[in-house]
Amino acid sequence: MSNGLLKGKKGIIFGALNNQSIAWKVAERCHEEGAEFILSNAPIAMRMGEMDELAAKTGSDVIGADATSLEDLNKLFDAAIAKFGKLDFILHSIGMSVNVRKGKHYTDLNYDWLQKGWDVSAVSFHKVMRVAWEKDCMNEWGSILALTYIAAQRTFPDYNDMADNKAYLEGIARSFGYYWGERKVRVNTISQSPTVTTAGSGVKGFGGFLGYAEAMSPLGNANALDCANYCVAMFSDLTRMVTMQNLFNDGGFSSAGVTQKVVERFE
Ligand SMILES: NC(=O)c1ccc[n+]([C@@H]2O[C@H](COP(=O)([O-])OP(=O)(O)OC[C@H]3O[C@@H](n4cnc5c(N)ncnc54)[C@H](O)[C@@H]3O)[C@@H](O)[C@H]2O)c1
Repeated sequence: MSNGLLKGKKGIIFGALNNQSIAWKVAERCHEEGAEFILSNAPIAMRMGEMDELAAKTGSDVIGADATSLEDLNKLFDAAIAKFGKLDFILHSIGMSVNVRKGKHYTDLNYDWLQKGWDVSAVSFHKVMRVAWEKDCMNEWGSILALTYIAAQRTFPDYNDMADNKAYLEGIARSFGYYWGERKVRVNTISQSPTVTTAGSGVKGFGGFLGYAEAMSPLGNANALDCANYCVAMFSDLTRMVTMQNLFNDGGFSSAGVTQKVVERFE
């Protein structure tokens, strides 16, 4: 399916690790819609990942950057500007919690790990936008997106400190989005259904999460391709006046009190 929605648009896509990654699907869809972009990921992820395959498929360069490092981000943006001139879109699809990885309970968080995960999952979004801001490298009517999860608003115990990281991430979208408005650039977060990926599957009880969300969503869970299609819409010229929003791509989960499917399980 291609409607040429992103023809001529240039961007940077962070976070495609393997073909299950949401960012991988976003890259495929953006390519189909005519965009050109640089793929970026943490250097360590590039060594273990399959990014070269995606790069070949989409005709993209791969440039490593630890998204917590201003030095790496400066180099990445300099390379993007040298290649494309100004940019039209950025996707931040980055998340990691050391406490989740190591199975540390929320009531007993390791604060060094908390800080690391916060920096990777939330503050890196500020850093990405700050570097783009300082280089003044976004075209007017450009679009910047990050991916988030509803645990920012409601409690999902096993999501652990990632819930707080996502709340902070969504705050950054609003706060920095205000300033980007001066430059006619929009900033939003997309709050996605639970999705089977490397990061998603790291959450304890993920299968239960997935099944519960499916039963609680009138349309069912949105998958990675659904998310990619929403990202394409948000990068396109059809959504120019949407900014500083947290947009739910979740089959209705966020508005459903209960569904018949869930009620039946208790009868
Ligand atoms: N999978 C889900 O259920 C789900 C639901 C809602 C939101 N999200 C969000 O979607 C985004 C993408 O996650 P995913 O599910 O596709 O998993 P994923 O594991 O494929 O992607 C996470 C990415 O973050 C990258 N990353 C980690 N540390 C980094 C660093 N220091 N610098 C640069 N990149 C770094 C990883 O290499 C990886 O590519 C995340 O923000 C995640 O929280 C996921």
